[in-house]
Amino acid sequence: MDLGLKGKTALVAASSRGLGRAVADELAREGANLVICARTVAPLEEAGRAIHDETGVEVVAVPTDLSKPADVARLMETAESDFGKIDVLITNTGGPPPGPFESHSVEAWSTAVEQNLNSVLNLTRAVLPGMKKAGWGRIINITSVAVKQPIDGLILSNAVRAAVTGFAKTLANEVAADGITVNNVMPGFTKTERLDSLAANISETQGITVEEAFDRWKSQSPMGRIGEPTEFAALVTFLASERASYITGTSIPVDGGFIQALL
Ligand SMILES: NC(=O)c1ccc[n+]([C@@H]2O[C@H](COP(=O)([O-])OP(=O)(O)OC[C@H]3O[C@@H](n4cnc5c(N)ncnc54)[C@H](OP(=O)(O)O)[C@@H]3O)[C@@H](O)[C@H]2O)c1
Repeated sequence: MDLGLKGKTALVAASSRGLGRAVADELAREGANLVICARTVAPLEEAGRAIHDETGVEVVAVPTDLSKPADVARLMETAESDFGKIDVLITNTGGPPPGPFESHSVEAWSTAVEQNLNSVLNLTRAVLPGMKKAGWGRIINITSVAVKQPIDGLILSNAVRAAVTGFAKTLANEVAADGITVNNVMPGFTKTERLDSLAANISETQGITVEEAFDRWKSQSPMGRIGEPTEFAALVTFLASERASYITGTSIPVDGGFIQALL
């Protein structure tokens, strides 16, 4: 299947490692040029070099803290001056810290909203005019299975990702006639550094081993295993493609069957 991504430009947020990196890798293999970002410069630049060396696409790596609006503005200026417009936007960023409601300060809630909701709004605001002018665009938000089945101990994530989902569903209707689709992809438990750090936290707070924390997650999936970032990236890449032209306003899980709801 030709996905029609060759020569398109994709901005993949938070993409030096983990899910964002896997999506960047896959889009580049389909021939899309990339803008990638993360806070830490060395691994970001290394990711950019590795993707370019493997695929030959143009990759611009812009150090960015997505929780800082000034950084997001600079990211978008660089993207615009290097590529003119963004065809595909993948919103993503680090996950908020775990812990029950009473462990989080007012500031922690503000940070989670800034990082996991406002960064989505700021990135979307910046790409929409170009997509509308082109009459084509793809916006894909990386959320979480927590939107359908909240995960105990992740109250910040459970709450803020629901806001992203409400935003995306409404935006999908507003821009559908402009040729722009807006979808969310909900990762289940997928092998990245984020999952390693959540397992370490569970081990510390619940007195079980890291391995037992992983076994608990595995037992919650009918497949009995943790997902691979490449399995997640495959769906995101399809949604970013020409071929996903009649899919909008959805939230699709990549979770090995973790979510127990019918729809
Ligand atoms: N993995 C899972 O099982 C899973 C399941 C459900 C939802 N999710 C969510 O999916 C998202 C990605 O998760 P992941 O597993 O890929 O995490 P990860 O392995 O920790 O990777 C996070 C990436 O985001 C970058 N990043 C973090 N905070 C940033 C910020 N403020 N500004 C810019 N870049 C930032 C990191 O680089 P720097 O640290 O250098 O900035 C890194 O490149 C998270 O929101 C996570 O909560 C993950």
